[in-house]
Formats: sequence, structure tokens, C-alpha cells
Amino acid sequence: MKIFLDTANLAEIKKAVDIGICDGVTTNPTLIMKEGKDYKKTLKEICSIVKGPVSAETVSLNAEGMVREGKEFAKIAKNIVVKVTMTPEGMKACRMLTKSGIKVNTTLVFSANQALLAAKAGTYLVSPFIGRLDDIGEKGTELIREIRQIYDNYGFKSLILAASIRNVEHVKEVAMMGADIATMPFKVYEQLFNHALTDKGIKMFLDDWQKLQKQLKK
Ligand code: E4P
Repeated sequence: MKIFLDTANLAEIKKAVDIGICDGVTTNPTLIMKEGKDYKKTLKEICSIVKGPVSAETVSLNAEGMVREGKEFAKIAKNIVVKVTMTPEGMKACRMLTKSGIKVNTTLVFSANQALLAAKAGTYLVSPFIGRLDDIGEKGTELIREIRQIYDNYGFKSLILAASIRNVEHVKEVAMMGADIATMPFKVYEQLFNHALTDKGIKMFLDDWQKLQKQLKK
């Protein structure tokens, strides 16, 4: 499973790229608003740091507008993927952008049927939102299992990008359910590395190393 960062924060992206585990980035208007910077400039900087797909979200509500915005985003860099919303207009835009050679990420997907439609429209990525389903009392990760089964049943090539991930348990569950990609906030990414026994083990090895040095000096 590929690991994407769900952020527009350049410092966070640089840290993950430096570690060497950052297969791509997803952004949305909310994440860009948090950074308070120009969207296109920020995307250009992100694309200069990350080799993998970088998703840029359109804000038009009609297909023509989404296509126009998408084509502008696509000029920024080769690895731009254009986000369109899961609506009839979004799917129309998905077909048009895909036909013109621009990759699409269908966002705001909350049901298996929506994911089926996105695949039929030729989307490159489909983004089911796990955390927001949990927020309304549903089991968000179950949606990944359903979409995986449907895509496998019919050989759809669209990649399942588990989005709206809130914790490390989400990451493990979507990996077990066969998501192709998980996109997550940097805080969750950092937590993936942690385990109390790893910290305890490091401390024990260092303490014993110090003890050995003292013994050797005697
Ligand atoms: C990513 O593409 C999505 O926009 C993002 O994961 C949404 O996450 P949220 O539900 O935490 O806002």
C-alpha cells in the first residue's frame, strides 16, 4: 500500500520525503486555507519536492468549470492529479479530463455505488472518506472492503485511496482491506513509527551499552 500525506504544509512534506516514505500528496481547499498561501504556488512547490501524484482540488460545481480548473492545474507539473467531486457533473468532468490525458481523483466518496460510478467514469483515484463516515456513526473502513470487492469483481483499474484517515488503526485496517493508497495527516504518519516497546527497547540497549563502557574502564 502506498502512503500519501494529506497536507499542504511544505515542512511536513519535506520531513517525510527525507525519511523516504512519501509516495504522494493530497490537498484540498481546507488544507490550503490552513497554510494561507496561494494554491497554485503551493502546488508547484509540493510537486518540486514529491515525485509521486499530487492531488489538486477543483472548486467549480459544473463540469466545464472543473475541466477548465483541472487543465490549469495540470500545467503546473506532470504529477498533478485533478480532484473532482462525486456528482454527475464531476463524473462528466472526470471523463473529459481523462480523455484529454489528465489523471483524476474522485473525491467525497461515501458509498460503494459512488465508487462504482467513479470507476466507470475512468477515475484514476477514488477517495472514500473513512473518518467522516465514523463521525456519523458508521464504520468507515468497511467501505474500503466493499469497494475492493467490486473493483476486483469487474477488474476496474481505478486505485482506492483511503482518505479522511484519523488514526493509526484506520491505516492498519485499510491496509488489511486492500486499499491501494492511504492518505493521512502528518500527525498520523509520525505515529505509525511509534511503539512503546520500541522506545523501551532502545532505552534498555543504551543503558546496557553504557554499563558495558563502565565495566571495560574498570
Ligand atoms: C483527502 O484527499 C481528503 O480531502 C481528506 O483526507 C479529508 O480529510 P478530513 O475528513 O479529515 O477533512
